Order: sequence, then structure tokens, then C-alpha cells
Amino acid sequence: MKTTFFLFPVLVSSVLLHSIYAHVHVTIDDPSSALSSSMCGVATNSIEAIYPGSANRIVGGKTAQERSWPWIGAIVRKPSIWSAIYQQTCAGTLINAQWVLTAAHCVDPTAKFIRQNLIMLGATNLTAAFANASAHIRPANLYSIAKVIVHEQFDVPSGTSANDVALLKLAEPVPFFSETISPACLPTASIHDIPANSLLDGGRRVCFTAGWGLLAEGAPGVRDGVGSGSNTLLQVNVVSYSAEVCTSTLGIWFKPEYKTLCAGTDLGGKDACTGDSGGPLVCKAASGAFELQGVVSMGFGCGEARFPGIYANVFALKSWITDKITTN
Ligand SMILES: *[C@@H]1O[C@H](CO)[C@@H](O)[C@H](O)[C@H]1NC(C)=O
Ligand SMILES: *[C@@H]1O[C@H](CO)[C@@H](O)[C@H](O)[C@H]1NC(C)=O
Repeated sequence: MKTTFFLFPVLVSSVLLHSIYAHVHVTIDDPSSALSSSMCGVATNSIEAIYPGSANRIVGGKTAQERSWPWIGAIVRKPSIWSAIYQQTCAGTLINAQWVLTAAHCVDPTAKFIRQNLIMLGATNLTAAFANASAHIRPANLYSIAKVIVHEQFDVPSGTSANDVALLKLAEPVPFFSETISPACLPTASIHDIPANSLLDGGRRVCFTAGWGLLAEGAPGVRDGVGSGSNTLLQVNVVSYSAEVCTSTLGIWFKPEYKTLCAGTDLGGKDACTGDSGGPLVCKAASGAFELQGVVSMGFGCGEARFPGIYANVFALKSWITDKITTN
């Protein structure tokens, strides 16, 4: 049963799929199985596999492999209701079967936003994922949103982007987890508590972020595709800086009490950028699973050495997240 998901037909009716999934759920109990409903943070193609050499010599922003980021989702919308074309605006991270965590500044808790926006899961190449989309044909793994919950203290105090997180409840839960769609783990410890077995660069923790956003500050967007900056998912490795370093480099823009953290590279050139907002910053835990430590929030320019990127601090926001999920 472990490999059943390889055989899953994509184009059968949802009624049939639901009955198959129900069967899978009760028969799969091996926690190492990719189908386990309790799994998180496991990627078939490990994120760091595309970097040659040892973990502490990781370099370069690169095209992400398929099945490396099964928890990433693209937030997309059609420019108009009759349009066949979707455009990606932000990203988000699947944290369980029915919830996606994104940035508050990406969303609006309005009926209009809920109607207009969708979440594509299980895709790295957005061109391929939307290849058959038309006004009448809905691509596979495109989820509607049932509810938007924005952090009540987002941007309080104003202009700080404090608490820049929002939860999106999918209209239907992901029926089963697979190599292409499965959640990231919520963090079990702060990004600053570096567990044994984590990836290090000069003693600092290496984490990864990914997105379809702009390739550089002010770069032209993708005009004829779905991605805002790239149709293919790109990933970069960044190091997590201490709160002291973040405060000294970002000045008044960084305060730990805004529930933020910062990450980047000493030489710059690697960062999240416009269109990547809401996406994941993941770090490998001692267990080997990838934990969602950050949500892409803001930056001054993109990849500027002097200004590391600012992320919502998921560990600091974890009780808010779990509370909202259990009560909604
Ligand atoms: C993405 O998919 C499109 C359509 O299938 C294909 O033409 C293109 O080569 C793919 N891009 C990459 C980087 O694999
Ligand atoms: C698009 O349609 C082609 C031809 O019917 C099919 O082979 C392909 O799998 C479809 N792609 C998606 C993403 O649904």
C-alpha cells in the first residue's frame, strides 16, 4: 500500500477519489510511509541534494527539483472571471490537510478575495500545472479558499509588518498526502536553537526559501506565464542571523517583539523578492524533517548584503496558529 499514490489517477471523479482516499487512510499506518497522515517536512528529493559537496559548502540559488517542496502552494487569481489565464501573486505553506500559512500582507479577509483567489498545490512548474487551464477546465490540485484568518495584531504598530501571518482554510482538505503534496512541520524549537544534525555554514544555521517571485529587485515579471517572476520554482539557501545581528543591520525595522526573524547571506545576492511573499523558510530539524521557521514577509530591496530578508517568526507565532486551526 505504501506505493499506491504512484498509481493514482488524476482525472477520475472526486466522488471516486474520496472513497479511495478513505480506504487509504485506514490502511496506511506506517509512519515512514509517504502516505501517513501524520507525516510532515519530508521531501522525496531532498532540498539540499542539488548542491554538490557537504552541507556546509552549500552555495547558489537554483531551480528547485520536483518533489523537493511538497508543502509549497502558489496563490493565484484570474485577472477576470472569464480569463483562462491565472497569475501567481504570493505563496503559502501547507501545514496540515486543510490549512495553508501565508503572509497577512498577501491576503484580505473579504468575500471578494476568497472568491477570486485559489491555491495551487503540488506544482513546481506553473506552466505545466496550468497547461490545460481554460475558462471551463480547472487544473488539478487547484484549491478554493473557504476562510481567511489574518493575525489580529498584523502591522501593529503600523508600518512594522509585525505578525505578518494569515491562515487560509482550504474549501476541501487535501485528501491524501503524497510525494508532491504534503505539509511542512511546524517548528519544535526556535530557529536560534540549532539542533545537532542541522545544516551549518560557519556555525550559523542554513535554511532554505523558495518561490516564483522576481529574480532580482526591479526585474521584469513574467508576462506570458503564471509565475510572477519565474514559472519554475526557485530556491535559495540563507543563514539565520541572531536577533542582535538582525537589529544591528535592520535598525528600527527589526524588533523580535514584532514576531520576526531575519536571514540572508553575508555577501548578499540571495534572498526572497517580490512575489515570494507568504512562502516558506524551512530549516532541517534534528529528526531530518523540514520545519517551517519563517514566512517571507519583507525586505529592503532583494538580496542586498546589508539588509537580510525579514520573515514572520513561525515559532513565536505557533500558539496563534494552532489555536486558530483548532477553533476554526
Ligand atoms: C515547464 O513546463 C513546460 C510545459 O510543460 C515546459 O515546456 C517547460 O520546459 C518546463 N520547464 C522546466 C524548467 O522544466
Ligand atoms: C494536459 O493535457 C494533456 C493531454 O490531454 C495531458 O497529457 C496532461 O497530463 C495534462 N496536464 C495537466 C497538468 O493536467
